[in-house]
Amino acid sequence: RPIGILISGRGSNMGALIAACAAADYPARIAIVISNNPDAPGLETARRAGLATKAIDHRTFGRDRAAHERVIDAALRDAGVEVVCLAGYMRLLTPFLTQAWAGRMLNIHPSLLPSFPGLHTHERALEAGVRLHGCTVHLVTEEMDEGPIIGQAAVPVLSGDTPDSLAARILMQEHLLYPAALRRVLMPETQAEATADALLCV
Ligand code: GRF
Repeated sequence: RPIGILISGRGSNMGALIAACAAADYPARIAIVISNNPDAPGLETARRAGLATKAIDHRTFGRDRAAHERVIDAALRDAGVEVVCLAGYMRLLTPFLTQAWAGRMLNIHPSLLPSFPGLHTHERALEAGVRLHGCTVHLVTEEMDEGPIIGQAAVPVLSGDTPDSLAARILMQEHLLYPAALRRVLMPETQAEATADALLCV
């Protein structure tokens, strides 16, 4: 099934989806990668992987978020996209795009939602003193970082962790979680995947 990926920066989660799509039995292929930031390093990664890319710079639309989104929406449809994956896409979406793709747009967020929606999740998790932290893939609804949860991965918070060390531990899980969650959305009939061990941290 053709998917579209929206990025704003590094694109490492996009990279994980590219790698997953390379497997013959994976149910998605990437029809287009779109960035609101023309300088996103992820665009170059996508081009090198031979993918169709588009930079649709939000700055050329001034304050008109909906106009920016209409162009994104048209590009996704032109590419035949059926499901959209937000992968480090750093723009808030208006109801136009969330409603147009309701039930067909996924996001990955670096926390165990509903804890720590928004930015700076790793700093906030350390400040809160949580012993487990992680990442979530969810369907996108109008409210930021809400919407039905498709999958989560948890990691321990270790003494001495910094926001960077925690981010790196979680990013490794993000790269496993996103392809698995997308597969689950595209093939709901397949068995849900889970690792056998629960994480217990005292
Ligand atoms: C990831 O931590 C993701 O969870 C968040 O933004 C970051 C994007 O990283 N939404 P990358 O661009 O995929 O490397």
